[in-house]
Amino acid sequence: MSDNANDILVHTEAGVTTITFNRVDKKNSLTRAMYSALADAFEAAAQGTDVRVVVLQGDLAIFSAGNDIGDFLQQPPASQDSPVFRFLRAIATFPKPVVAAVCGPAVGIGTTMLLHCDLVYAGDNAAFSMPFVNLGLCPEAASSLLVPQMLGYHRAAEALLLGEPFLAEAALEVGLVNRVVPPTECNAVAQAQAKKLAAKPLSALVETKRLLKKGQTATVLERMAEEGESFGRMLREPAAREAFTAFMEKRKPDFSQC
Ligand code: COA
Repeated sequence: MSDNANDILVHTEAGVTTITFNRVDKKNSLTRAMYSALADAFEAAAQGTDVRVVVLQGDLAIFSAGNDIGDFLQQPPASQDSPVFRFLRAIATFPKPVVAAVCGPAVGIGTTMLLHCDLVYAGDNAAFSMPFVNLGLCPEAASSLLVPQMLGYHRAAEALLLGEPFLAEAALEVGLVNRVVPPTECNAVAQAQAKKLAAKPLSALVETKRLLKKGQTATVLERMAEEGESFGRMLREPAAREAFTAFMEKRKPDFSQC
């Protein structure tokens, strides 16, 4: 676990707030403190009259390894007010455009948060995975609703039941990403698109996003809450405890008793 204030960097310039995952030594895995910082950043950007667009980015070799597994073991989210759920609600209801630049692995919430971004650019080294079942867990971030909508049922079942990574080109094919670029160009492409958006009338961007999402914002929040209930319970059950302990001990999990 880490409470380093620099794990999430937030920088606003010319109407664009750029949020950078900056815990590279732990593969940008996300701690409670980082989720709080992310939720704060989104809430501030939603209110801030100087902000028109948010860009989310990681490192050129890793977007995010998902939730910090030590955190899951030591202080699993206890309620819907937990930082992770606060962050998920903040990104899912964020009224202005969100652009993501994804290079390297995007694991778990590293992938599911992208379902709530408007434009996603991927380095050709990006690898997306949702290994919730492998961790004794169930989907979060409304991914049980949004992934089948995007991929179709069978591909969603493959992604969510097997939890194996899929690469940038596959993500492009199913519409999870807008464009695949060399990793060294990815952040610049995202910034260029954000700059274009920031030059447009904010009221028109916000109203267009609201209308695009209107069909299902309530359903998404409802599914997130239902997933959150199950996820919170399953975090404390034997399968997840075994998966996390195995990860920390750098061994394969043994689910024969789960
Ligand atoms: N939580 C906590 N620590 C993590 C982590 C996570 N989700 N992912 C990586 N780390 C830590 C490792 O424990 C290791 O720490 P150490 O140097 O103190 O031993 C360090 O980050 C480097 O990770 P490592 O696994 O050696 O890097 P890699 O390049 O071989 O693999 C990943 C990168 C992302 C593929 C791999 O780290 C991984 O699969 N992580 C777990 C992903 C996961 O299951 N996330 C939960 C989703 S809900």
